[in-house]
Amino acid sequence: MTPCVCGSAWTLEWACNLAGPRRYTPRLTRAPHAGARLRPAPELMQRESFLSDDCPAMGIYETLYAFRDSFGQFMGTEGTHPWSQGFPLTTQLEGGPPLPSSVNVTWEDRFYPKAWGHPNLREALVEYYNSYYGSNITPENVMVFAGGRPGIFAVLAFLKKHVEVRIGNAEWPAYLDIMTQTDTNWRVVPYTEENGFHPSNATYFDRAGLNHKTHLLPIISNPGNPTGHTRVGAELEELIAMAEQPGNGILLDEAYEMIHTSKGVSGIQYVKDLDNSNVFLAGACTKGLQCPGIRIGWIIASKTNVETLSNFSSFGMGGVSHPSQHYAVELLQPERVAQARDAVKNHYDMQRERYGEAFEKMGLKVFTGDGGFYHWMKLPEGLNASELNRRLFKHGAAILEGIDCDMARPHAKDPNYVSPYANWFRFSFGPLLPETFESDIAIFGQVLNEYRADVEAPSPV
Ligand SMILES: Cc1ncc(COP(=O)(O)O)c(C=O)c1O
Repeated sequence: MTPCVCGSAWTLEWACNLAGPRRYTPRLTRAPHAGARLRPAPELMQRESFLSDDCPAMGIYETLYAFRDSFGQFMGTEGTHPWSQGFPLTTQLEGGPPLPSSVNVTWEDRFYPKAWGHPNLREALVEYYNSYYGSNITPENVMVFAGGRPGIFAVLAFLKKHVEVRIGNAEWPAYLDIMTQTDTNWRVVPYTEENGFHPSNATYFDRAGLNHKTHLLPIISNPGNPTGHTRVGAELEELIAMAEQPGNGILLDEAYEMIHTSKGVSGIQYVKDLDNSNVFLAGACTKGLQCPGIRIGWIIASKTNVETLSNFSSFGMGGVSHPSQHYAVELLQPERVAQARDAVKNHYDMQRERYGEAFEKMGLKVFTGDGGFYHWMKLPEGLNASELNRRLFKHGAAILEGIDCDMARPHAKDPNYVSPYANWFRFSFGPLLPETFESDIAIFGQVLNEYRADVEAPSPV
C-alpha cells in the first residue's frame, strides 16, 4: 500500500491508472537547483493523443515521484515518514469509536443508485447538520458525490461565465488543477505574512474594477489547507452574510469541519436562506470521519443548485456506490459521531500543539491557525523548501513545498516563475501516530540543522 499525498490513501499505481494508457515514468525535467520542479513525463504515443496535453496529475504527485527516485521506495512504505500526505489516521483514535468493518449489501443495492444520493445518507446528513449547527436543511439540499473532489469539480464545471472565483493565494493544490480544467475565471486574494494568512472577509468580495455583470464566488477551505486558519463565530457569520448578498455566493470547503479546536465548524450555522442563495458547502467522510478510501463527499446547496448537480449525475456520474453510502450512514450514527467529534478534536489538537512548539524551538516561523492537521511554516532566510525536501528524501521523509499551494502560479510550471512561497512548506501530522512524535522531530531537526549549517558555512575561496 502506497498512500498518496493528495489527501486520500490512493495508491501511486492507482494514480497512474487514472492517466489511462499513458504510463508516467518519473524523471527530472532539468537539473535540480533551488526552486527547480520535478515532474513525471509520459512515454509518448506514436500518434497525437485525442486527449488534452495539459492534464498533469495534481502537483503534489511530483513530490512522490521525486521521493521514489531519491529514496528507492514509494512514500508510505514502512520506514518512510509521510509528512507531505494529507490523509488522517484511519484507525480507531484514543477515546474514539471503532470504525465499521462491514456493511450489509442487499439485492436492492445492486440497482442503479439515485442520482442525488441514497435517501438514508441524505437523511443522515440532514440530521447531522441540523442537530450540530441548528440549520433546517432538507434532503433536497444534499447532493452526494464520490468524495469531496468530484463535488467541487462539478460545481466549478457548471459555473456560469460571468461568475468570477476569488481564492486565497495559498490554498489546497487541487483547486488550481480543477479551476484550470474547468476553465474557471479566478483571481487570488493575498495570503501573506503581513495579513497572517487570514485576509478579511471583505477582501474576497472586493468589487474594485469589476463590471456590474460580474458575480463573485470565493472558494475557501475552512479550516484551511495548508494554513489551518479557520473562520468561526462572528467572522464566519459575516462571511456567510456577504455570500448571501445578491451577486455573491461561496464555495466553502468544509472537508476539515471536524478538525478544529471547537470540535466542528460549519457555515451552515449562519445561512439565512439557503434555497435563495449560491452558497455551496462541501463536505466529505475523508478527514474527520477518517475514511478517505470510502469515497463519499457531498455538496449542501439550494434545491435548485442541487437539482442541476443531480441532473449532471444522471448523465455524467450515474450516482455513487451504495455500499460506500451505507458505510457513510454508519459513520454518521448520532452516538458514534458525537464520540468521534471529541476524539478527533483531542487527537489533532494535541498533535498540532506539540509539533508546533517543537518547530518553533527549531527556529521555524509557524503560521498555523487552530484547525486542520497541517503546520504552515517559513524556513529561515537563505533556505528553500525544494532543497529541504531533497535532503529529507534521503531520510525517507518529505514535506509539501509551498509553491504547490500557490494559486497564482502557472499551471504548467514555468521555470521562470518565482513563487512567494519558495521558502514556505506544509507539514502534515494527519497520518502520524502519536508514538512517532519524538523520532519525527529528531529527523526533521537533524536535516534542518545540517541544511542551515551548510548555508551558513563560509564558501571555500
Ligand atoms: C481542502 C480539501 N478539500 C477537499 C478534500 C477532499 O478530498 P477527497 O476528494 O479525497 O474527499 C481535501 C483532501 O485532501 C482537501 O484537502
